[in-house]
Amino acid sequence: MTVPSASPVMRDYGSVRAGFDWRRARARLAGLPGGGVNMGYEAVDRHLLEGTGEHVALRCVSREGTATSLTFAQLADRSSRFANALGTLGVARGETVFTLLGRGAELYATVLGTLRAGRVLCPLFTAFGPEPVRLRMDLGGARVLVTTRALYDRKVASIRARVPRLRHVLLVDPGDGPLPDGTLSLPELMAASSPDFTVTATDPEDLALLHFTSGTTGSPKGAMHKHGAVLAHEVTAAYALDLREGDVFWCTADPGWVTGMSYGIIGPLTLGVTTVVDAGDFDPGRWYTILAEEKVTVWYTAPTALRMLMRLTPRAGSGTPREQYDLSALRFVASVGEPLAPEAVRWGQEALGLPVHDTWWQTETGAIMIAGFAADPVRPGSMGRPVPGVEAAVLRCGDDDRAAVTNGHVRVVDAPGVRGELALRVGWPSMFCGYLHEQHRYEACFADGWYLTGDLVTRDADGWYWFVGRSDDVIKSAGHLIGPFEVESALMEHPAVAEAGVIGRPDAVAGAIVKAFVALRTDYTAGDELRRELLAFARKRLGPAVAPREIDFESDLPRTRSGKVMRRLLRARELGLPEGDVSSLETTGHARGTSGGSEEQR
Ligand code: WT7
Repeated sequence: MTVPSASPVMRDYGSVRAGFDWRRARARLAGLPGGGVNMGYEAVDRHLLEGTGEHVALRCVSREGTATSLTFAQLADRSSRFANALGTLGVARGETVFTLLGRGAELYATVLGTLRAGRVLCPLFTAFGPEPVRLRMDLGGARVLVTTRALYDRKVASIRARVPRLRHVLLVDPGDGPLPDGTLSLPELMAASSPDFTVTATDPEDLALLHFTSGTTGSPKGAMHKHGAVLAHEVTAAYALDLREGDVFWCTADPGWVTGMSYGIIGPLTLGVTTVVDAGDFDPGRWYTILAEEKVTVWYTAPTALRMLMRLTPRAGSGTPREQYDLSALRFVASVGEPLAPEAVRWGQEALGLPVHDTWWQTETGAIMIAGFAADPVRPGSMGRPVPGVEAAVLRCGDDDRAAVTNGHVRVVDAPGVRGELALRVGWPSMFCGYLHEQHRYEACFADGWYLTGDLVTRDADGWYWFVGRSDDVIKSAGHLIGPFEVESALMEHPAVAEAGVIGRPDAVAGAIVKAFVALRTDYTAGDELRRELLAFARKRLGPAVAPREIDFESDLPRTRSGKVMRRLLRARELGLPEGDVSSLETTGHARGTSGGSEEQR
């Protein structure tokens, strides 16, 4: 067994950054024999060629807690069978394979087989209800869905007829009895397929991944990523997560979201490290046991998970995790997705013996853009500095908290401590290459050569970034982005609902929970019974991850003159904050203040 070397991958930020350029970094990839780039090839095939096919790629921990190993060679075998099965099913190059799967070996065979075959992969979150699943499969033109029998019965069977382009549903656990109509057994297909497969000659610009994310208004956005993004996955897994040969890496993110793809699958596999794949749910004892027994060296998790651990386990004295479990292998702990409070950094230091390093990125950026690196002492509360190859800036904002663009130009704020919109200079390899079928929405994300992130930040005199907030109405709950519009639309389907406004209400553990304000049609009466009915109605459609947890009834909702519900005002009222600028409030609504400006939702 290889033991990871003692010093950080990136020892000196300044010199690595100064000498870094993406074109030269391209030499870190194996590249296809014919000259192209394929994400799946970098994750799997290159290790076979380099003679490390027998290294353990995955340590799969079952729900019961038993762990089994899968080598890179076995991963090649399984993903080749899946790739060949796609051919047998007549799935063409560029067509999209969706997954609705938890963590397990089948997920890896599906994702890597799809990528190696030059088909496009789109993961879905298993806590979505039937409606978010249908909408995304429909928007994304799903050809194939790989899922479990239980998830098919609960979330797909009822909406299947409304996804007309979906041709094949493959069940990873078909069981003994007859299969549901219109589904196929994945194990049977795999057994009948050849384990020999030549990776499709993809170009760095070819589409590889589709990740749905949510905006303030309209449908979920399908962020598209190219095969060439794998270079950023590899570089950031090394520099920001400090991964190196011999590491055992555990990313707790759900595979339905971008972190579960970029760092649950692609990044660590390209570096040839061992990845822990836990099929179980969050449970402090289970998690500490996995860290100890699997001798995890690098752990990538999220603030919500850390907050849950902080609540449930003592941080000092007897009974701390580091006292109860052997965490001596653990070397680096990082977090992503929401603000990492200084309190959580300190908890890590006391309870695990290591501080937590923050990382910042988005579905659109495809890979970590800003991070607290292993060699730098943590600055609690800061997200860190831009990774080598990434140029970040704070842009001056207008009244709407978005970068002010004048004649096509933005203003970079150089002075430290000034709040503005975080922007990234266009040109890193994992930048999304479009929102599916929404060119206009994509173009609206850029100005003057910068990608505008929609996040408000400050930067200190040493170039470290500090998160301030989001400039839009999107809700971050337990690390997952929820579009208020999707929730409002589902509530509006109920005959009692005349209008709905949805906000995130701050929550000590989840960061925010989804709260809805509902105005009823005239022949309905507000009350606990109707509230319960609406909560159940929304939960059945949207699933537990997206549905509102609270509903308040209002006689009417504040609207702009153009008729949009003013979520900002609902939020201010909920939190007892000043209502700020309400000059564009519709005059027949219950305006409660005046001052200049306008409220528009992007
Ligand atoms: C949004 C992107 C890509 C990781 C999973 C989330 C927020 C992300 C941090 C952080 C404060 C953060 C931002 C960002 N966010 N990382 N370290 N500190 N906020 O991807 O679902 O596309 O969400 O998550 O608001 O814009 P996502």
